[in-house]
Amino acid sequence: MKRRSALKKLGLLGLVAATTPAIAREVETKFCNVYTKYRPEIHNRNIMHIKNPLNPTKGELKHTPEIKVGNTDSRGYTLVEVTIGSNGIIHPSTSTHWIDFIELYKDGELIDKVVFEPGKAMGYAAFRVKLDGAKTLKAIAGCNIHGIWENSININ
Ligand SMILES: [Fe+2]
Repeated sequence: MKRRSALKKLGLLGLVAATTPAIAREVETKFCNVYTKYRPEIHNRNIMHIKNPLNPTKGELKHTPEIKVGNTDSRGYTLVEVTIGSNGIIHPSTSTHWIDFIELYKDGELIDKVVFEPGKAMGYAAFRVKLDGAKTLKAIAGCNIHGIWENSININ
């Protein structure tokens, strides 16, 4: 209530109320625009698998999500980083070939999804997740040319 009164005195209450939904709408619109704009360049939505897990190819390693679990903060949120590419073979991001999304799942439940535009960012995402005794983390990533790849790790 003190914060509300202070904002009211400053005349910012209306500004806060007016801008927050606008920002949310802008982000939502951007996501929709990214999907619409680049949809014709998404050429492969097949689920892909590593043919021989004991001897993956360079192309398979380049598309396999690598999941790293980091520290847990004082509120109980654990850093989970997902990089597309493993063993140091990182997937490129160019105007014609890129990782277009990364999803993170905890025990099969979708935690979040990140959408990428071509050539603007590498296939990397970091999340702060309440693991709450979860047993597995799974990441799914889409390459616009080479399909959809996933990887899971056990965390307990
Ligand atoms: Fe690719």
